[in-house]
Amino acid sequence: MRVLVIGSGGREHALAWAIAASPLCDALYCAPGNPGIAEEAVCVPVPASDLDGILALARRERIDFAVVGPEAPLVAGLVDRLEAAGIAAFGPNAAAAALEGSKGFMKDLCAKYAIPTAAYGRFRDAEAARDFVRRRGAPIVVKADGLAAGKGVTVAMTMEDALAAIDEAMIARRFGAAGAELVVEEFLAGEEASFFALVDGSHALALAAAQDHKRVGEGDTGPNTGGMGAYSPAPCVSPAIEREVMARIIEPTVRAMAAEGRAYKGVLYAGLMLTDDGPKLIEYNVRFGDPECQVLLPRLMSDLLPALIATRDGVLDGFDLRWHDEAALCVVLAAKGYPGDPLIGTEIEGLAEAASDPAVKIFHAGTRREGGRLLADGGRVLDVVALGRDLAAARDKAYAAIDRIRWPGGFWRRDIGWRALGRR
Ligand code: AMP
Ligand code: GLY
Repeated sequence: MRVLVIGSGGREHALAWAIAASPLCDALYCAPGNPGIAEEAVCVPVPASDLDGILALARRERIDFAVVGPEAPLVAGLVDRLEAAGIAAFGPNAAAAALEGSKGFMKDLCAKYAIPTAAYGRFRDAEAARDFVRRRGAPIVVKADGLAAGKGVTVAMTMEDALAAIDEAMIARRFGAAGAELVVEEFLAGEEASFFALVDGSHALALAAAQDHKRVGEGDTGPNTGGMGAYSPAPCVSPAIEREVMARIIEPTVRAMAAEGRAYKGVLYAGLMLTDDGPKLIEYNVRFGDPECQVLLPRLMSDLLPALIATRDGVLDGFDLRWHDEAALCVVLAAKGYPGDPLIGTEIEGLAEAASDPAVKIFHAGTRREGGRLLADGGRVLDVVALGRDLAAARDKAYAAIDRIRWPGGFWRRDIGWRALGRR
């Protein structure tokens, strides 16, 4: 089977690494990929946003199965285009990707089908949104409806901050069209966790839970990022909570999407708040998390590719996955300046020594090669993942590997896993 992975980050490196190990995979391509992915796949410089280019590449290389990593091409309809061309593709079509592409759509679906989530209002008018905030008071959460590269959410602890967030989105148009409509919602208190399931249109197969660290600074402080580290399993998601999440959130969503004529296929990523009233849905993403994918896939003992194919083919019912007993922990190495303006082009050395422990895997997130040198080429640059008999062992191995990397232009958090493990 000839497989194409679409995307260029650490998540796609993890996907390519897992798919390359499958006996079903005869040839693996990635568009556009990165130097780490190039060790697993033939990388072709077509950006994930170039749907025509991806389609032409898939035809030219006679791709049998395409796996779309990021949300933007899913929301833009890449899976619809590939499938229409007769190329089987993993991921939701555009109608189903609205679960992430429109927060208002997701909230209305939850309301209609009684899926537990924060109380909310939808607004196209700034004054109506301000009124809602004045009536509800703070803390309150203001969200751009559309995709805003992870920057569209303001958790406002004061009414002034909430009103400013409304003006930024609707008057200053900071998020462009994505902020023309807002969701304003109740603040949920609790511990956050990410939960992943494969969904084949009518059946859901639980994968696992993970937790990430979204803030740039230690102790979960400072600005939001795409994620500075992750670990799985998440001790706060007990087997009982997992059953509740499946029964009250994931499965009702799968039925609701089918009933709405938007049958969902792909991986469904539920951002959860574990509140005193039970787990509530914060948001849906229609893809694997990044860096959560990098801790899920090393834990998976079963071959990933048949599971992705069964998801796309609608035959997940009865499918079984096996997992290693070990825990996985990932530390993201970022370029200085991230999440603002990252310092690009600094040299990274020592990766081979760092990855010499067989329990350690280094995924590339934002690198490029120049001659024999490996250079930083983005904000999040490398993901150092380790497996261990428990989270503490995984953490210690990940940091021991990082200590062998020589990269003065980078930084990372030293406290990944602290919510589960306490501080070191
Ligand atoms: P997002 O950018 O959509 O991933 O959201 C960023 C973060 O905002 C989430 O990870 C939560 O920490 C926080 N958040 C979003 N909605 C709520 C809510 N209703 N209550 C509390 N925190 C929230
Ligand atoms: N790590 C958060 C995300 O992938 O959205």
